Amino acid sequence: MQEAGAWPGGTMTNSIEVSKLVKTYGSLRAVDGLDCDVRTGEVFSFLGPNGAGKTTTVEILEGLRRKTSGEVRVLGFDPWTQLDQVRSRIGVTPQDFHFFPKLTPREALRLYANLFGVKPDVDELLARVELQDKANDYYDTLSGGQHQKMGVALALVNDPELLFLDEPTTGLDPRARRAIWEVIRHLKLEGRTVFLTTHYLEEAQQLSDRIAIINRGRIIATGSPVDIIARFGRPERLRVVGDPALADRIATLGLHVERVDGAVEVELRSKADALAILALVASSGLRWDRFSIQTDTLEDVFISMVGRLEDGSTPGAIPEEAGK
Ligand SMILES: Nc1ncnc2c1ncn2[C@@H]1O[C@H](COP(=O)(O)OP(=O)(O)O)[C@@H](O)[C@H]1O
Ligand SMILES: [Mg+2]
Repeated sequence: MQEAGAWPGGTMTNSIEVSKLVKTYGSLRAVDGLDCDVRTGEVFSFLGPNGAGKTTTVEILEGLRRKTSGEVRVLGFDPWTQLDQVRSRIGVTPQDFHFFPKLTPREALRLYANLFGVKPDVDELLARVELQDKANDYYDTLSGGQHQKMGVALALVNDPELLFLDEPTTGLDPRARRAIWEVIRHLKLEGRTVFLTTHYLEEAQQLSDRIAIINRGRIIATGSPVDIIARFGRPERLRVVGDPALADRIATLGLHVERVDGAVEVELRSKADALAILALVASSGLRWDRFSIQTDTLEDVFISMVGRLEDGSTPGAIPEEAGK
């Protein structure tokens, strides 16, 4: 197993640098002046709805598509003109990964190893993605989650320092999704850099050191999930469930008070506000049942920034862009 910083690129600050990237398809600007950096050793997520330009950007970074303009550096190289310098150091699991139906995971890994001219420990790779029990089963008998795990194992054949995982959990059930999350967390612990794309907000929030929210080919916010929430979310709120008359009492403190779902919510300017509110509630003689602190999630922020979830969409997923 690789230790953190074991790769030459591990001393670099940024594994990926993108500046003013543009990709047009005819009159469509699928990527429209995109800037982002991915730091070595982090899990970086592109979070955005279908059609936002995630796959286009990722495939430019992988050297598979040609940019229209702008600057792109992957491990210090231009992936289009210097792919030979990059190929052996990156691993790729494409969106909608598919494989030959009558090959087994073990055979597939051996095939990839031959293609790369490397001799990985196939059993260790299978164990890494928890496919050891399925090592000799045909691809077409595996579940969707197992297909994705196999895709990740294949991306690891050449022991890459940088991995691109394009929507690795789309369409998976919650348990299979969590299993992939564990694999991704492990990749980071090994010191690898992971470039993830997803349209699942919770996934981005759970896994990422930093996120770029991408919409219509542009990044509209970048930072750690906590940063993004702090910058674009509402302030923390203290929520008190109890007598509705509590709202008027708390308002005497000069705080912004709202009634939400039968409870009283108060925006906190500081932690001290919470103490003052609770002291007032305790001495009010009014009934109160419980209290909690409400913090915006990435989903709350995203919805307020880009648009509202439409009925019928997957919970926690970003809806397709309207008008597409
Ligand atoms: N090869 C292509 N030719 C023409 N249009 C494309 C091509 N690939 C993607 N697009 C369009 O570019 C936009 C971005 O697509 P894509 O990068 O696949 O987004 P995402 O991965 O975020 O869903 C979409 O409007 C898509 O229809
Ligand atoms: Mg895509």
